[in-house]
Amino acid sequence: MKIKSAEFLVSNQDVAKCPQNKIPEYAFIGRSNVGKSSLINMLTSRKSLAKTSGKPGKTQLINHFIINNAWYLVDLPGYGYAKVSKSSKRIFQKFITEYFEQRKQLIAAFVLIDIRHKPQIIDLNFMEWLGSNQIPFAIIFTKVDKLKPKNVDEYLTSYKDILLETWEELPQYFVTSSSKSIGKKDLLSYIDSINYDITKTSKSN
Ligand code: GTP
Ligand code: MG
Repeated sequence: MKIKSAEFLVSNQDVAKCPQNKIPEYAFIGRSNVGKSSLINMLTSRKSLAKTSGKPGKTQLINHFIINNAWYLVDLPGYGYAKVSKSSKRIFQKFITEYFEQRKQLIAAFVLIDIRHKPQIIDLNFMEWLGSNQIPFAIIFTKVDKLKPKNVDEYLTSYKDILLETWEELPQYFVTSSSKSIGKKDLLSYIDSINYDITKTSKSN
């Protein structure tokens, strides 16, 4: 898929105020600093469409980006960042939870995992929570440029083993690097194929 246009549309703290049209959307979620915002910039080939930072806790709102005037990418705040004050953590958690529970336009969540870190319980719990709420998701391993290829394979094998303790079937996963533009084509093709299926289904109804 070619990205012809990518624009920031709106930021919200309240899911009820998010765009009301029925176009499909895909949300990026994961621990703070995992590279959610950077991945949006990589996928859209826009340097600073989404705001990124070396310090965790940069994205603090639900951000909608409209792609090719046809679908949304949604950048969310990260979870699990210890230095955010308790009250803002509560607010984040509340609106992130509400976003996933209430957003009917959400087609799939992408759970981002930093490939340099050993599997974190917070990510595994979050995926289980998505599963129990019947929210489709795929995993995106980020920052693969930071590992040697041999270590990438080892990491993926051990991560899959852990997932198989909970999941009967492995979730779809992607391996990416925003700084090296790795995984872009696969991820965009995946979204494209889902968008295509949605259009086909809505035409046949
Ligand atoms: P929050 O908004 O704070 O939740 O963080 P985020 O998940 O949006 O992370 P962000 O995209 O802001 O990136 C965090 C840091 O990781 C920045 O310093 C990025 O430059 C760096 N980063 C992101 N993706 C990659 C990558 O693929 N490779 C490398 N080497 N660094 C990356
Ligand atoms: Mg961010």
